[in-house]
Amino acid sequence: MEEQENITPEPTTPQAVETLQALYAEYLMPTYTPSLALVRGKGMHVWDINGHKYMDFLGGIAVSTLGHAHPSILSALRKQAGKIIHTSNLYYNELMPQVARVLSLRSLGGKAFFCNSGAEANEALIKLARLWGSGQGRHEIITFRGSFHGRTLATLSATGQEKLHQGFAPLPEGFSYAELNDLASVEERIGPRTVAVMIEPIQGEGGVRLVDPDFLRNLRELCSKHRLLLLCDEIQTGIGRTGEWFAYQHAGIVPDAISVAKGLGGGVPIGAIVATPELSTILQPGTHGSTFGGNPLACAAALAVLETLEKKNLVEQAKKQGTMLVKRLERMQKKHPTVEEIRGLGLMVGIVMNQPCKELETLLMRNGLITVATAQNVIRLLPPLIVTQAQIKKAVKIIDQGIRQWQEYH
Ligand SMILES: Cc1ncc(COP(=O)(O)O)c(C=O)c1O
Repeated sequence: MEEQENITPEPTTPQAVETLQALYAEYLMPTYTPSLALVRGKGMHVWDINGHKYMDFLGGIAVSTLGHAHPSILSALRKQAGKIIHTSNLYYNELMPQVARVLSLRSLGGKAFFCNSGAEANEALIKLARLWGSGQGRHEIITFRGSFHGRTLATLSATGQEKLHQGFAPLPEGFSYAELNDLASVEERIGPRTVAVMIEPIQGEGGVRLVDPDFLRNLRELCSKHRLLLLCDEIQTGIGRTGEWFAYQHAGIVPDAISVAKGLGGGVPIGAIVATPELSTILQPGTHGSTFGGNPLACAAALAVLETLEKKNLVEQAKKQGTMLVKRLERMQKKHPTVEEIRGLGLMVGIVMNQPCKELETLLMRNGLITVATAQNVIRLLPPLIVTQAQIKKAVKIIDQGIRQWQEYH
């Protein structure tokens, strides 16, 4: 008999990034180009495989709401893992309604549906809107140029960035792209088959592009006038990041449904949509579902995140810390002609540079600060909501020094 190949995993603690690079090259599809090998985290800090320490001002792209290894998440996960990790949605789950209740009370007052990621949450929004409009033959959704809604086919089609569409034709039809902050451009796209408008209250991947609150209010009115659903993609902006539970709340509007993910599980994959009471019974048995969606382990993490946000008043704190972060960055901006603008809300902040700034991201990383370059020329900051004023001060100092170094060869 032929000897079976030994498939024991390779050692999981390779000593050098080069070893990992080789393993990635051999076994992983090259969709990502990682920089560091992060192996440990605590609070606002992460450590790489060589023991270097970094302050994390990215939080796994707005995911690590409570930073790393937060005791409330650890204890919830340990407790739940010892009880039951997964059951499927064929059975009642004690925690799912508890998470849904908090989300509902903090947003639209209606019901929730759970899934595992941002793209899936937006898929659910799209399906909800299409089902709602199907009786009248309406299915088209207006989104915005520069938006990002996910990588599945429908959410990619919803994403208003043509470069991301390339090679994936035919994409699901029924999406058109208006200009952000331009109501007339939305109005001219409304037709007899339009069913909804979907918008990020701040474009994240698009470069922390703020939406004018007046535009959002007028958009709400326009949607109501034409019986269109207003769908807010709160995947990146939600769960307290901008200093309100959800970013649409800054404008005082009420959308018809929202999507959340990223920060909800504090690092454990979970996504959800929440609708107004009127829209809460559109998705009926057999119309939508997910094997893992809202499983007990993920819900335990989400509940720990939500309860800690409430208990520690972290949403209010995000507003306060965000204001301080922006103020300090604006003060710093005066020294650097390469900084064009500081923009953001709460702890979602962009430093707009006058040219592509990927090298600046690398420089900041070498100086011990994790951030990300987005939309070519924007350094995006999405620190965990537990960030302190002292840490903000330190981060701005690193950014200040980093920009100075970067300017020397630009
Ligand atoms: C606004 C927004 N929507 C959707 C997504 C997609 O989320 P996921 O990567 O979890 O599918 C993202 C991810 O960056 C996002 O920022």
